[in-house]
Amino acid sequence: MPNIAFVNGRFMPLARAKVSVEDRGFQFGDGIYELARTYGGRIFHLQEHLERLDHSAKAIGLSIVYSRSRWKEILEKAHAQSGYPEAKLYIQITRGAAPRDHSFPKKSRMSVIVTVRKLVPLPSELREKGASVITAADLRWGRCDIKSVNLLPNVMARQKARSAGAFEALFIRDGLVMEGAGSNLFAVIRGQIMTPPKGPAILPGITRDLVIDLACGARDAFVEKGIPLEELYGAEEVFLTGTTVEILPVVKVDGKTISNGRPGKTTLRLYQQFLQTTRP
Ligand code: PDD
Repeated sequence: MPNIAFVNGRFMPLARAKVSVEDRGFQFGDGIYELARTYGGRIFHLQEHLERLDHSAKAIGLSIVYSRSRWKEILEKAHAQSGYPEAKLYIQITRGAAPRDHSFPKKSRMSVIVTVRKLVPLPSELREKGASVITAADLRWGRCDIKSVNLLPNVMARQKARSAGAFEALFIRDGLVMEGAGSNLFAVIRGQIMTPPKGPAILPGITRDLVIDLACGARDAFVEKGIPLEELYGAEEVFLTGTTVEILPVVKVDGKTISNGRPGKTTLRLYQQFLQTTRP
């Protein structure tokens, strides 16, 4: 089964896909992306991903390339060609290839790319036992709500986590925990589910929105609130959310054990609700 790419209107095996060395995504990180996945062969919350893509595009001055229905068609076709029952669908749009100059080129054609790869679920042991995470200074810019391909601080933080034997790094800004390098953060503190508020300091995660709906639907106490790192260490429960991690319990932060060191009951219940929503 091949990994598939769609590059500027053409479908091809991923191994054959190419863009110019003068692509502004490559030279400046001048581009945006989305990562969606399938459940039961259907793209999950595609409209939400496309809305966020539009938000990112507008924020960096890129015009909208395709209508929602055209995107759906392209993504479904790429997925069908891959033959993978469950897949990760990556979209990237850059300002295209042009002679290197920081300001926007007068003439350039955006590079529009889709790649399809097999979805490999997280190891079940990690899910059952829970993850260890570390913290890292948030060295990102002031518009983390844009899903930009500029991911160097995320790359460095994630590598710091991996080198420390941890699964994820949590960004700390002004003493508050923002989110993971590639995931959003939730905690249960004094019986209340908490997550940092939407705004320029975090990515508005699609899984995050779904988890909030599930929590509110179950009438859980919930608040969007900045979480000081000291409070996170003392939390009853901590978990990450994201397209690939779904809802992942965290049992250690910076080597400190959270509660009794096992996935918490609210996290597990939300995960069960999540499974019911997502699995066909
Ligand atoms: N990352 N925060 C950051 C910084 C992220 O990069 C992501 C997703 C999330 C979770 O968003 P969502 O629930 O919409 O996947 C939060 C993707 C998976 C990635 O970069 O690969």
